[in-house]
Amino acid sequence: MNSEHSSKKYTITAALPYANGPVHIGHLAGVYVPADIYVRYLRSNNKDVAFICGSDEHGVPITIRAKKEGVTPQQVVDKYHGIIQQAFSDFGIDFDIYSRTSSDTHKATASDFFKNLYASDKFVEQTSEQYFDVASNQFLADRYITGTCPKCHHEDAYGDQCENCGSTLSPTELINPKSALSGEPPVLKETKHWYLPLDQHEAWLKDWIVKGHKEDWKANVYGQCKSWIDQGLNPRAVTRDLNWGVPVPVKGAEGKVLYVWFDAPIGYISATKDWAEQTGKNWKDYWQNENTELVHFIGKDNIVFHCIIFPAMLKAHGDYVLPTQVPANEFLNLEGNKISTSKNWAVWLHEYLEEFPNQQDVLRYTLCANAPESKDNDFTWKDFQARNNNELVAILGNFINRALVLTQKYFDNKVPQQGPLFDPDKEVLELLSQFPNKIAQSIEKYRFREALGYFMDLARLGNKYLADTEPWKVIKESEERVGTILNIALQIAASLQITGSPFLPFSMDKLKGLLNLGDFQWAEAGRSNLLPAGTQLTASSLLFTKIEDDLIEKQVKKLEDNKKANELANAKATPIKDTTQFDDFMKMDIRIGTILEAEKLKKSKKLLKLLIDTGLDQRTILSGIAEHFAPEDIIGQQVCVLANLAPRKMMGIESEGMVLMAEDADGALKFIQPGDKVQPGSTVS
Ligand code: MF3
Ligand code: ZN
Repeated sequence: MNSEHSSKKYTITAALPYANGPVHIGHLAGVYVPADIYVRYLRSNNKDVAFICGSDEHGVPITIRAKKEGVTPQQVVDKYHGIIQQAFSDFGIDFDIYSRTSSDTHKATASDFFKNLYASDKFVEQTSEQYFDVASNQFLADRYITGTCPKCHHEDAYGDQCENCGSTLSPTELINPKSALSGEPPVLKETKHWYLPLDQHEAWLKDWIVKGHKEDWKANVYGQCKSWIDQGLNPRAVTRDLNWGVPVPVKGAEGKVLYVWFDAPIGYISATKDWAEQTGKNWKDYWQNENTELVHFIGKDNIVFHCIIFPAMLKAHGDYVLPTQVPANEFLNLEGNKISTSKNWAVWLHEYLEEFPNQQDVLRYTLCANAPESKDNDFTWKDFQARNNNELVAILGNFINRALVLTQKYFDNKVPQQGPLFDPDKEVLELLSQFPNKIAQSIEKYRFREALGYFMDLARLGNKYLADTEPWKVIKESEERVGTILNIALQIAASLQITGSPFLPFSMDKLKGLLNLGDFQWAEAGRSNLLPAGTQLTASSLLFTKIEDDLIEKQVKKLEDNKKANELANAKATPIKDTTQFDDFMKMDIRIGTILEAEKLKKSKKLLKLLIDTGLDQRTILSGIAEHFAPEDIIGQQVCVLANLAPRKMMGIESEGMVLMAEDADGALKFIQPGDKVQPGSTVS
């Protein structure tokens, strides 16, 4: 570590998303929006920041997805890396670099990191028995093994984690373990791996976290760390028997790769190297200088890796700084249910933009206002609509629009002079001057919801000022007085622009253009002279527009439809019945008949009374399809009829046979029909 003279650096990382699927609003709310707000705030304070992210392209989630899609792991990560990168850029998540862990820099960096620890004896080598799938000739790491959770008895727990109760598991704890590859129970087989002996790190970790960060880390983060440490830390394997990942760079490790949670966080370092290379910086300034603030933005399922395991790796290496902050968020739910990729219960970012083009800020706003900062939270489309209509449109947009429109009307769209100040003016300017600091303090404590709330309070202050001073009435008496009022309103708008930019970069960019506002740092916000008198403004256009009910209803319906479609696609067919003999089957006389008449029965919700031409006769059949078909729609249709079924009386009517139907997993009924029209009475066999 060197140079006490060099200026302070900020290395801000956002969790590297697995490149095994697109990103959804939960990702944005939990990690990327808060990280982006923080970074934009730092930049507005002229700080030297590296904002680092990239795709996490190794690990079992990727190879499982590849298998499911019938492509190679490389094809999977290429596809999703592109989609994810595009989504982040579309939402203004302004990384300095968005890299990927399949890059050459990364492979070399991760490999060197391992070699360094290996050479200085920081690992423990151990042979143990692990689950092995004989049919696929493969060890079953992490998610390749599923079974019943020993803690909550959820049936689909993974070898490393139960998604139902959140417990961290090891494969051998699972009840009834099964291979995710073959579905077969695995066998145990010996294999050698390298372990990071966390037990040897326990003492300093405890000091560092429990003594050092009890006060300044978020309660949810500190709490999880404390409970891990209290339970006692055990050695963790950092290698796996897999063929997708960074090869373990030592002799005798053929067929083994680095555990994804060993290589992925090193991805932050590799990405910094690539960025430094591109921009002529020194990457070590951002990782190996004790003056550096290293901040990891993550979701709560990543806490142990960023607060215990990665720090232990960094410490074992010795050249690196440790994170100063790990502002992890809890989870965002969606309309009352857990967001789930496999159940397609999610709002995907790329789909949002199709429905709400150019409305990134509305989503950023809602997700920040509702961020799961200290507990899980729920996103609902109704709330999204209300946040837009009642807050962005009615408070922020309304204030800006009023200030601009009045200036246009009375002063030819030029910023008017400030004349003598009266009490309401002095009061509002005094309050204005306090806002930037108030917002900043919340941001610096990682309380982004609170910060956003204060920002909106400033817009409320602007509205109140206009309502109190009533320039539209005063104009009849004194143009000079109105000039003062609007000048002050526009100064408030200018400060809104500066302090709102981290949260709402798109609309605040637009506002900057409307105001013709210069480039200002955060420290200058709150001043009463940011917009000089005489500045020509651009004709007002609305920053936010109302979202109507039908668009919201459409989103809710889409979610339900997606979920249904997904359930159908994943539904298992009902189990097969006992074997029947050919002769038994041949006893059934199945014919094609044509529906001649159909009518509802007054006394039954379910039954339709059909008259069917079977080619042999015309007969009445009662069929339980009234809830699926309107009588008038089925007349003339050809159907399969079991013609020699013993007649049966229902509701006082004799039914002479049965119409055969196909039933979907969700209970929908369809006729079984010949591909082309055939003669009534044609046999089916
Ligand atoms: N891919 C992991 C996840 O989505 C996060 C990895 S963060 C890193 O949960 F530090 F390992 F990069
Ligand atoms: Zn469980």
